[in-house]
Amino acid sequence: MTIHKLYGSIAPNYDKLHARWLKYAGGEAQCAFEGAVYALVKPSIKLLDVGCGTGTLARKITKLVGSDIDLTLLDTCSEFLSRTLDIPNIHRLHSSAEFIPSTDQKYDLVTCAWALETTRNTTKAIAELVRITKPDGHICIVFCADKCCSGLTGRAMRTAVSLRGTGKFLDPELVIKTLHDCAVKSIRQVPCNGPAVTLVVNV
Ligand SMILES: C[S@@+](CC[C@H](N)C(=O)[O-])C[C@H]1O[C@@H](n2cnc3c(N)ncnc32)[C@H](O)[C@@H]1O
Repeated sequence: MTIHKLYGSIAPNYDKLHARWLKYAGGEAQCAFEGAVYALVKPSIKLLDVGCGTGTLARKITKLVGSDIDLTLLDTCSEFLSRTLDIPNIHRLHSSAEFIPSTDQKYDLVTCAWALETTRNTTKAIAELVRITKPDGHICIVFCADKCCSGLTGRAMRTAVSLRGTGKFLDPELVIKTLHDCAVKSIRQVPCNGPAVTLVVNV
């Protein structure tokens, strides 16, 4: 089964499955990611959430700044996009992170939570995230990372994700190198425990 079909089939139960991942493995990285995003969100900015899933981040952001934000959600999976239909005044793109239908340097802030590791061509996806971000804009990324985790539950969750086939565990150094190859200004890794990494990139 392709990852696309796999995600389509888990869409109805995704929030429950993902909550378990956050509880036992990725929670600290998610908090670091959300903290970075909320610090950068301002009314009237253009924001794109790549691999938006069921729109959880979008709901939190609109609660924070109201609808005075130009928010676009992108996902390859229509089953996920259809779960965001309750969010008013947003744009939706049914597309992939590797081929984002956008002009260059369009967005002030690009977010990508737990989706980079699901892309077939991660290098191309990273180049796309950088291409569509305005000079001096930011990209916030959180992803499953191939890093040592001490806790038993973290290791068990990692095994579960690998067996389910819903994502890879990316080498953080390789992701950072790929971002540097795209000539970004700076990359900050927000410290967190667990098999995950949060990056804040200044383009
Ligand atoms: C683990 S979920 C993360 C969802 C959401 N960002 C969150 O934090 O809950 C991964 C999402 O990425 C989407 N996805 C998978 N491959 C993708 C690709 N190549 N481009 C864009 N989205 C993709 C899936 O359909 C799914 O919605």
